Amino acid sequence: MFLETPRLRLRPFVPEDAEAVFRYRRDPDLMRYIPVGADKTIGDTRKLIDWYIAHQEKYGFSKWAVELRQTGELIGDSGLLLLEDGPDFELGYRLAREYWDRGFATECGRAWLEAAFSTFGLQRVVAFAHPEHAASIRVMAKLGKGVREAGALLWHGYRLVLGGLAKLLSS
Ligand SMILES: CC(C)(COP(=O)(O)OP(=O)(O)OC[C@H]1O[C@@H](n2cnc3c(N)ncnc32)[C@H](O)[C@@H]1OP(=O)(O)O)[C@@H](O)C(=O)NCCC(=O)NCCS
Repeated sequence: MFLETPRLRLRPFVPEDAEAVFRYRRDPDLMRYIPVGADKTIGDTRKLIDWYIAHQEKYGFSKWAVELRQTGELIGDSGLLLLEDGPDFELGYRLAREYWDRGFATECGRAWLEAAFSTFGLQRVVAFAHPEHAASIRVMAKLGKGVREAGALLWHGYRLVLGGLAKLLSS
């Protein structure tokens, strides 16, 4: 099972991906707006990948590895994860820093939204961004006009922007 976009291939994680994922998740800048912060050891990354794999087994989708179609290089992760308190699934994307600002997160987001509504039968997908995370907010805006702000939401002590990306691609 995988998703393809013009430049990317998205596929479920396997334990062997840990080293490639640790290479970008150890970057504090990359994890600046993410409450858990950077991975300190590859053990942290392995635990996370195990969790992604368990989520995949339970729901049929998860955060997946993002690879460049041209070279096969693993450059990040993207996908849908159940919110801690449910019932919604959150769209997320994270790319190694050298791949920012090339439209890759938007390309991942579009592919996931289409799959969420047409393949996985979801009615709603939510996305969050830290209010100062301009790039992430911009990606949400590019993903659709349905994005709206609900600034009062608190998550791990952060005030967040909540975008309800409901059935954007089919409307
Ligand atoms: C957020 C993130 C996923 C964006 O990925 P990306 O592939 O660079 O996103 P895209 O190229 O599709 O779009 C980025 C947009 O933000 C804009 N942007 C980037 N930095 C910006 C800034 N400081 N201020 C305003 N806009 C900014 C870009 O110009 C682009 O918009 P444009 O296409 O209109 O020019 C990437 O920065 C990342 O991985 N960050 C670390 C992990 C993270 O925070 N993930 C989001 C939370 S789940």
